[in-house]
Amino acid sequence: MLGRPMMLRRLDPDALPQQQESAHAMPGCSPRVIPASIRPSATAGEISGVAIGTAHGAERRLTSGFAIGCCPRNSIASKDGSCCSEAMAFRYPDDVPVLTDGTVVLRAHREGDLDAMVEQCRDVEMVRYTTVPRPYEPQDAVDYLRHVAREWEKGGPTSSRAWAITASVSGGGARFCGTVDYRPTGVGTASIGFGLHPAARGAGLMRRAVGLVLDHAFAHGIEVVHWQAVVGNWASRRTVWHMGFRLEGTVRKLLVQPGSAHDGWIASLHRDDPRAPCEPWPADCPEWDRR
Ligand SMILES: CC(C)(COP(=O)(O)OP(=O)(O)OC[C@H]1O[C@@H](n2cnc3c(N)ncnc32)[C@H](O)[C@@H]1OP(=O)(O)O)[C@@H](O)C(=O)NCCC(=O)NCCS
Repeated sequence: MLGRPMMLRRLDPDALPQQQESAHAMPGCSPRVIPASIRPSATAGEISGVAIGTAHGAERRLTSGFAIGCCPRNSIASKDGSCCSEAMAFRYPDDVPVLTDGTVVLRAHREGDLDAMVEQCRDVEMVRYTTVPRPYEPQDAVDYLRHVAREWEKGGPTSSRAWAITASVSGGGARFCGTVDYRPTGVGTASIGFGLHPAARGAGLMRRAVGLVLDHAFAHGIEVVHWQAVVGNWASRRTVWHMGFRLEGTVRKLLVQPGSAHDGWIASLHRDDPRAPCEPWPADCPEWDRR
């Protein structure tokens, strides 16, 4: 069912090579609200192929998978995939699955990420292309982290799933590099959002992070993932273009930011689509100085 094999393993994010927090790492973009509705439960088959680590190892693998996949809060999954009533609450950050492809590690956000989150969200591209509060204050990062934790703990059909992206940047230890999330609508679709700290851009990290998150989403009942971006955000467009997203069109005044609305691109990826460009890179993309 998945477009490519999953690389998810039982992991302790802190035990991975070169995993050291850095004061120079990064933050996330602000959440967008999506319409609430009820998503059909994932089947046991959908979940069984997923080996997801959590900060505390495998014992909670099944519980975590279902807690975020289909069971109501305080439920656990039985072997046949149904939900049991004996409660085992989803714990943040311990139960957030750790996803990795060997280069990028996605894990729960931590307090140690806050400084870098502020730094990232004050970056000009973040302000131009996302809905981060402006000016972005340290309290905004604290609020965002709380929001992320609440969403994971809720574990509902429309709860967003956000991860901190970490990787070794410029030969140093692993750092916080940004945020990637997906927001299920409850009916088998989801939207994806992401942002990198400026210091982590230009190394293809987001493409990897998006790939991991797509694997997670498609393994948890999502059939189609949508991406939207302000027209002109070529770096974001190219990131999802590489992953096989198909541009569906340009919509006038699609995206609302504080005080303005912008024309937006919209693209989609079905879980059975190949993870490779499905159309030529647009000839009207302006010359890009890779520096
Ligand atoms: C979008 C973002 C995550 C991409 O980060 P990244 O993966 O490091 O991106 P890169 O700089 O490697 O760019 C991705 C690709 O787009 C290309 N690219 C970057 N800027 C470009 C531009 N202005 N025009 C054309 N291509 C561009 C890069 O060359 C790269 O192509 P390649 O992978 O084929 O070499 C990052 O730019 C960012 O955080 N931007 C601010 C927040 C944001 O826009 N989020 C998305 C909201 S929809």
